[in-house]
Amino acid sequence: MIKPLVAGNWKMNGLSSSVSEINALKEKVSSNSNCDVLICPPATLIMAFSHILKETPIALGGQTCHPAEKGAHTGDISAEMIQNCGAEYVITGHSERRMDHGELDKIVKSQTEAAWRAGLKAILCVGELIGERKADLTLKVIERQLKNSIPEGATAENLIIAYEPVWAIGTGLTPTVEDVAAVHNFIRQLLSDNLGSEIGNNMRILYGGSVKPGNAKELMAASNVNGALVGGASLKAEDFAGIIAAYE
Ligand code: PGA
Repeated sequence: MIKPLVAGNWKMNGLSSSVSEINALKEKVSSNSNCDVLICPPATLIMAFSHILKETPIALGGQTCHPAEKGAHTGDISAEMIQNCGAEYVITGHSERRMDHGELDKIVKSQTEAAWRAGLKAILCVGELIGERKADLTLKVIERQLKNSIPEGATAENLIIAYEPVWAIGTGLTPTVEDVAAVHNFIRQLLSDNLGSEIGNNMRILYGGSVKPGNAKELMAASNVNGALVGGASLKAEDFAGIIAAYE
């Protein structure tokens, strides 16, 4: 049995005043929940949140990391720095990073290696653009992204895959449950073929893209969906708790 993970990606949102939202979430998430819970705030808030979330079941993560451990990379943050702030996870390959910063599969691979070097678990995102879906290229795109960005040494503990159709992110649109299941089943098979069934069958595969309290239960019940990566709806404790409740 894979324990699901519900992860919130705050993206470029949140100021010091957001501690109130984290305090509210802390009250709503119990340690005997059927899923693991993770918040990935902007890097500026990880340290503050780690003090608040100490001894709670809510884990912390970063949203990206530089491949290098340290050095002359103005504005960048290393996996070691994220870990040092109290985080256990980092997202790699999010489509917004791929688009805004040209982070291609090769870079995503080295960022994922960096995450492991620092002792972080990586949540590696893949997903097709709307044009690719319309051209029936979804599975091809996912296969290429996974083949080119998963480094040697992946385990069911150090790697989590997130399937996020780019056209579903922040749009309110979602694929049908059948479409989600088809992609997740494909990813499961690919992971088993390439990493061996022991690793491939136990790795978590999250769905992301317009997950809300109202659709979470249905999406999370799809075949081979082991949790969610949530953007907009993770910003409000009440909404995020509503998504976590899909696993009650
Ligand atoms: P969304 O974002 O839930 O706002 O669609 C998901 C994501 O980008 O991870």
